[in-house]
Amino acid sequence: MAQGRIPRVEGEQALLIRIPDPALVLLIGPTGSGKSTFAAANFKPLEIVSTDHLRGLLSNDPADQAATADAFRILNLIVTGRVARRLTTVIDATSLLAPNRTRYRRIAAAHGVPVVVVAFDLAAHTYHARNRGRYGRVVDDDVVERQIEQMTKAMAALRSEGYAALHVVRDGDQIAVDRS
Ligand code: CTP
Ligand code: MG
Repeated sequence: MAQGRIPRVEGEQALLIRIPDPALVLLIGPTGSGKSTFAAANFKPLEIVSTDHLRGLLSNDPADQAATADAFRILNLIVTGRVARRLTTVIDATSLLAPNRTRYRRIAAAHGVPVVVVAFDLAAHTYHARNRGRYGRVVDDDVVERQIEQMTKAMAALRSEGYAALHVVRDGDQIAVDRS
C-alpha cells in the first residue's frame, strides 16, 4: 500500500491516510510531534492506547517515568486483547525504539491484522516549539534532542521493517484520514 497524496485546495496537497478495518495504527514521533492530537481527531477514545494515559492511571502523573515499565506491560496486554478481537487500535506512544515496534508487528501478525504506521518526521524546531508551547506537560530540551536522534534512526529503519502502509507526515502537511 503506497503513501498517497490527494489534491485539496489549489496548490496544496493532503496526505491521505487510509485505515483498513481492523488495523493496528502505530504512531511514531518524538514528544510534541502531534501524535495525541492526530489520534484524538481521527479515532474514538476507546480505540487509543496511550502510555501517558496508562502512566496517569498508575501514578496520577502521566509524566511519571517510574511508571513506564508498568505502563508498557499494560499497553501490551490491551493491544494484544484488542487485536485478538480484531478491533482497530491506535498505539499512542513515541515508538522510537525498534524492539517495541517489533513486538507490535508480532502481535498484529499473529492475528492477521495489518499495521499502519504514521510517522511524524518534522523539523527539529517544530518539535521544540510545540513542546515549549504546550499547556501542562513540557519536556526538557535535552530529552527532545535525544528523541530527535532516535527518530532519525527510526526513519532509516522503518522502510525495511515491513508494514502494510507507511505514512510520513512532514511540516505543513494537511492530513486526510479515510476509514470507510
Ligand atoms: N500541535 C500543533 N499542531 C499540530 C499538532 C499538535 O500545534 N498539527 C500542538 C498541540 O496542540 C500540542 C503540542 O503541539 O500543544 C503537542 O502535540 P501532541 O499531540 O500532544 O504531541 P505528542 O506527539 O502526543 O507528544 P507526547 O509524545 O509528548 O505525548
Ligand atoms: Mg501525546
